[in-house]
Amino acid sequence: MQEKIRIENLQEPNIGDLVYVCSSKRLGDPIHEQGIRLKRQWLLEMLAKYGSCAKIAYYNRKPAAQILYYPEEADVTKAFKRKNVLVINCIYNPTPEAHKLGIGTRLLQAVIRDVKERKTCKFILAKAFNTGELLPLPEFYKKNGFLSTQERNLFYFPIEGSYEPTKPLGEYEPLPEDRNKAIIFYGPTCEFSYPFAKKIEGLVKEVAPNMKIEIINEWEKPEETIKRKNWWLVVNARPIQTFFMETEKFKEEIVQAVSVSH
Ligand SMILES: CC(C)(COP(=O)(O)OP(=O)(O)OC[C@H]1O[C@@H](n2cnc3c(N)ncnc32)[C@H](O)[C@@H]1OP(=O)(O)O)[C@@H](O)C(=O)NCCC(=O)NCCS
Repeated sequence: MQEKIRIENLQEPNIGDLVYVCSSKRLGDPIHEQGIRLKRQWLLEMLAKYGSCAKIAYYNRKPAAQILYYPEEADVTKAFKRKNVLVINCIYNPTPEAHKLGIGTRLLQAVIRDVKERKTCKFILAKAFNTGELLPLPEFYKKNGFLSTQERNLFYFPIEGSYEPTKPLGEYEPLPEDRNKAIIFYGPTCEFSYPFAKKIEGLVKEVAPNMKIEIINEWEKPEETIKRKNWWLVVNARPIQTFFMETEKFKEEIVQAVSVSH
């Protein structure tokens, strides 16, 4: 009998399946499509440099879930990079008929098995954010034996070594060049990042129509994000704390930042 669940490593021919897992409901939206183009390009570069950086789970032959990872050393946006550390960027199973069948666990265990075989990885670092959808990642990683770190939203799993903390980034220091403008960062690792940046641009324009806005791809200009301590949005030399989906609170914070005179 045909196996219902199958896991494949990412290769050039199945990039479309990886994108389908996260974006099946948004194909055809031109802004989202731009996010997908950026991600495809990034995936091709990662495949060429580091080999497979994702796994896709198929359920009844349909792409159902995915896990995406890369060596921390590949992350140009980080000021401090540890050697032999694998970062799990995201894992996602948005397919209702494939929930709670062990697929997420199998994807994660397949990554752990791969790095154990290679014998060069000290530990795995997992980005464990909570989007409010399905099982929150902190719970998922804890179930799988991952341990918390002092780094925000990051869990780890020891392989050949033990956890090494990263160097503290320090606080954002207001830069004279950041005055009277908004700087929005996005990246290519997630196709939602660019559409989110465009959404943020729209919200900033609503409350500060005359403000100059720069939207920067942080993987293309890593020095720009590094000098701002990886803040995703800086307005009038103020790092913005409120997540943009809390729309009213977010807009209030923008108004306050804009009103600061230097
Ligand atoms: C975490 C996630 C990948 C798990 O997917 P999955 O294929 O359903 O996971 P599994 O079947 O391997 O389940 C693992 C465990 O979690 C439990 N679980 C899964 N979904 C659950 C839910 N919604 N609520 C409570 N428990 C849940 C399972 O029962 C199982 O528990 P057990 O190990 O005690 O038996 C999925 O819930 C998900 O995508 N969550 C959102 C993650 C996210 O926000 N990603 C970022 C998007 S870019």
